[in-house]
Amino acid sequence: MTLEKRVKPHVAALSPYVPGKPVEELERELGIREAVKLASNENPLGPSPKAVEAMRGALANVHRYPDGASFVLREKLAGRLDVAQEQLVFGAGSDEILELIAKAFLGDGDETVFAWPSFAMYPIVVKGAGARAVTVPLDADFVHDLPAMAAAVGPRTRVVIVCNPNNPTGTSVGAAALERFIEGLPADVVLVLDEAYCEYARSEDFPDGLTWVARRPGTAVLRTFSKVYGLAGLRVGYGVMDVELAGYLERARHPFNVNSLAEVAACAALDDVAHLERTLRLTREGGDTLARELGALGVEVTPSDANFVLARTGPDSYERLLRAGVIVRPMGGFGLPEHVRITIGTAEENRRLIEAVRALRGDADAAGPQHGAAEARP
Ligand SMILES: Cc1ncc(COP(=O)(O)O)c(C=O)c1O
Repeated sequence: MTLEKRVKPHVAALSPYVPGKPVEELERELGIREAVKLASNENPLGPSPKAVEAMRGALANVHRYPDGASFVLREKLAGRLDVAQEQLVFGAGSDEILELIAKAFLGDGDETVFAWPSFAMYPIVVKGAGARAVTVPLDADFVHDLPAMAAAVGPRTRVVIVCNPNNPTGTSVGAAALERFIEGLPADVVLVLDEAYCEYARSEDFPDGLTWVARRPGTAVLRTFSKVYGLAGLRVGYGVMDVELAGYLERARHPFNVNSLAEVAACAALDDVAHLERTLRLTREGGDTLARELGALGVEVTPSDANFVLARTGPDSYERLLRAGVIVRPMGGFGLPEHVRITIGTAEENRRLIEAVRALRGDADAAGPQHGAAEARP
């Protein structure tokens, strides 16, 4: 008997998540140093120094299991967000909260509706639970097509996900459009508002998902310490939801899913307002620079509310940027072979990226229009 006959068919059919290429890997492959990674939407300033200090202080206790309730973090965050402590569920990244929702609500034949392109983990989590991923194309501006998503909700729909701002496009939906969408949702559907990048949003009408947690039972807002707080390597994220929904996820959760270093670091990061403000300033300035400079090179840049931009740099640009020592995220897997997703980096990293794109565009101009990204858009 082979495992092939025993593995669950929906698991065998999954395509594993492809993470951003590590800097060390590219440096080894090319025999270069000082490659730049702008591929995983990490904080280019690194972790909060206060978080690093707090972890140092906690190192001597790692022989103990962590506090399974993450009490200190729970108390602090509940105060910050003005929610009850029982409304919070912590995970090894907000990825894990998605997994818990799938574990609690999805089974064979159930459906989950989400936009596409969106976060690459959604189909993996949904299909991994044996459920069907009902994907709804973004509109022509790469924004969630909420009326089309509403139309895709049917009797088998158990979960609906809105990624706001959306990864990999950086686009967001406004408060009024989101309200119209949510008001039309059946009450027994779990609504996930994935706000991994909400801290970066600059659109004036960007909605605060937490208001929907208060207004609509069965709504989970997902947030993370991986992005603006710079703690991606520690794996800590959380969901905010009503107490009933949180109770189901708590039943499905492993007891020590958030490790003790992650908990102290997350607490310290929440208190490090200066690091947060530095990060937001750098990201906003860097985002403006990338939009301006890439635009001047004739590259279409999608307006972004996140710490990354979707840019139409042209065919093969992912590979060509790699050869220039700059790692971005290819978008071919989303059906956008001429686009890449670029994380906003430090001023120096952004400069390296812009220079690499300039060289690539120069090559393209020299080679004739068939390589240019700005020509004939279908
Ligand atoms: C939209 C979105 N949601 C959730 C996550 C998961 O983040 P983490 O598991 O690191 O909290 C990511 C990570 O890139 C993301 O882009």
